[in-house]
Amino acid sequence: MAEEAKKVTVPSLVAMKRRGEKIAMISTYDYPMASIAGRSGMDVILVGDTLAMVVLGYETTLPVTMEEMLCHVKAVARARPAALVVADMPFLSFQVSKEEAILNAGRMMKEGGAEAVKIEGGKCIADTVRAMTNAKIPVMGHVGLTPQAIRKFGGYRVQGRSASAKTAILEDAVALEEAGCFSVVLEGIPWALAKEITSRLAIPTIGIGAGPHCDGQVLVSHDLLGLYEGFVPKFVRQYADLKAVIGKAFSSYVADIKSGRFPTLDESYDDAQDRKKD
Ligand code: KIV
Repeated sequence: MAEEAKKVTVPSLVAMKRRGEKIAMISTYDYPMASIAGRSGMDVILVGDTLAMVVLGYETTLPVTMEEMLCHVKAVARARPAALVVADMPFLSFQVSKEEAILNAGRMMKEGGAEAVKIEGGKCIADTVRAMTNAKIPVMGHVGLTPQAIRKFGGYRVQGRSASAKTAILEDAVALEEAGCFSVVLEGIPWALAKEITSRLAIPTIGIGAGPHCDGQVLVSHDLLGLYEGFVPKFVRQYADLKAVIGKAFSSYVADIKSGRFPTLDESYDDAQDRKKD
């Protein structure tokens, strides 16, 4: 019998960095994907606010609500994966006050079944992170190209290219570690900066568009599976083309219905079988 994978916890994830073991993380949003990811050796499943774009069809991550996120966090948690389940805190669910941040993160854990939360931002949210960790909520940070700041950045642009921007991002990451984050996502920054941050922090860094020297990597499931129809950045490695697979299956189904090839009598009930089997 196949041995069941050991449950990943916040301390065991931090220990992976100490052992020099790379961390595999995916952003995904529903029960079947979480079940498959859980059986694939994934260390962390993030229910990312990219839900807004790749599942709900919005142009940015900004519109997704707490209720929409919670619905998907619950679906992922129901898969009971060995991977650590992290819920992304949507735009304005943690920025208004520390109290709201704790209450909303608490909902992700109490109602959603998440084991940790992720929030975007650096020094400016360090006090919020401190309050959340004091309330026993494990927090993953996220710095660099933070998509909730897209309107401020004016587009999805690589961050941290100038000397001052490099220093600011490094200081953000250090501030998050000092505030109690157990890990930090580095998004859309030059690889050399990600390497420096990774060597300066005791907590694991998880990169996305941040080069190979981070302690782990994260991609959005719909990007790596070739399911998303929008813009796919250069850091995405596409491991499958499910758009084509699903498109072919749907066209064959339509053609079979139109031509009368589906269903056959073997795919239908008759009186005798109904009595025997059903
Ligand atoms: O929302 C998300 O999926 C994320 C990852 C890309 C890190 O924040």
